[in-house]
Amino acid sequence: MKLEVNRNRLAEEIEELASISDAEPPAVTRIVFTPTDLKARAWLIARCEEAGLAVRQDPIGNIFVRWVGSDAGAPAIGTGSHVDAIPNAGKYDGVVGVLGGLEAIRTLRRSGFRPRSSIELLVFTSEEPTRFGIGCLGSRLLSGSMSPDAARKLTDKEGRSIEEVRKQAGLEGQLEKVKLTDTYYKAFVELHIEQGPLLERQKTHLGIVTNIAAPASLRVTIEGAGGHAGGVLMPDRRDALCAAAELILAIENEARNSGAADTVATVGICEVFPGAVNSIPSVVKLSLDIRDTDLQRRDAVLRAIDGAAENIAAKRRVLVQKELLNADAPAECAPAIREALAQSCAKHNFSFVPMVSRAYHDSLFMSRIAPVAMLFVPCRNGYSHRPDEYASPEDIERGVTVLAETLASLAS
Ligand code: GLV
Ligand code: MN
Ligand code: MN
Repeated sequence: MKLEVNRNRLAEEIEELASISDAEPPAVTRIVFTPTDLKARAWLIARCEEAGLAVRQDPIGNIFVRWVGSDAGAPAIGTGSHVDAIPNAGKYDGVVGVLGGLEAIRTLRRSGFRPRSSIELLVFTSEEPTRFGIGCLGSRLLSGSMSPDAARKLTDKEGRSIEEVRKQAGLEGQLEKVKLTDTYYKAFVELHIEQGPLLERQKTHLGIVTNIAAPASLRVTIEGAGGHAGGVLMPDRRDALCAAAELILAIENEARNSGAADTVATVGICEVFPGAVNSIPSVVKLSLDIRDTDLQRRDAVLRAIDGAAENIAAKRRVLVQKELLNADAPAECAPAIREALAQSCAKHNFSFVPMVSRAYHDSLFMSRIAPVAMLFVPCRNGYSHRPDEYASPEDIERGVTVLAETLASLAS
């Protein structure tokens, strides 16, 4: 079997998909179920159909693209990722696993390979949390990690529910139909950019993920008292933004002092109300994203943050309310799939290292219903979630070659 990835066409497709965006190039913004996201999905489905593959969508919009194997009833071998992108993102996050997965299938078809188990490309809905506040919506529902009832309660900033926006996008059927059985996939392999600098620094071609860190996120609302910026004297103030500033630094401090470099915490959103230059902030809304490879350590940091919030609330006479959006467990990649990836790397003379995924991915949730593994390709300076995110066509080609080889060995 000779695997010849069409690197140039893949690079062109990555550029073409990046042009379907709500941001000025090179930035990419593609928020789930916006007209731009729907245009990108239609473009993608057309590419899959052109390749002669059968496409279906489930009620939440996960796209399944199947190459039917000779044993059509056997559990499938899955691969895939996402095409939604956070505001002001780059071209490669998620896209490399989707268009790279499609190219892996096309490469295998060109090589004359015929799978015994079906091989399926899966494009997950809303891996990014931008619109509904929680990431991996599609894979949470597919794996039963989120109930349809919980999903139906989610709304976007305009108060529009998932039910409303998905139906407007033409997605019919009940969310109850989304969950897959745990025999649907025999294995699931996600190709992704590393989103960190280690592969580039170590001059290594590829990373084989051993485990995926455990993410949690919260919404925090701080309520103080507003008033005139000239009239209210300092001893009388209950400034919500000053309390938020203290809390943000306490969060940073707790993460730094957890005792492990694997603990990371980020406040990425800070909304100030009323947001006027001569008005004391009365309400501040923060987001907190916290992750660790160790669940107990992450939860200990969360408790320490709770304690800090209580102290700040008492000292500054403000109300701090927290809403836990998700607190997920970490995932371990399946040794047998990691071994298949390692053998594929060795066969093609590509260097590889085992590594932790500090970003979360849909594979985290797919691991609840199938053995999973992930393959990382280097990205320049480790940059991701920013417009200058970049992975070279040569690095992507290596990732696609190993993915194709691995899919073939798992589907034989
Ligand atoms: C996924 O985009 C993440 O935030 O890890
Ligand atoms: Mn991302
Ligand atoms: Mn991603």
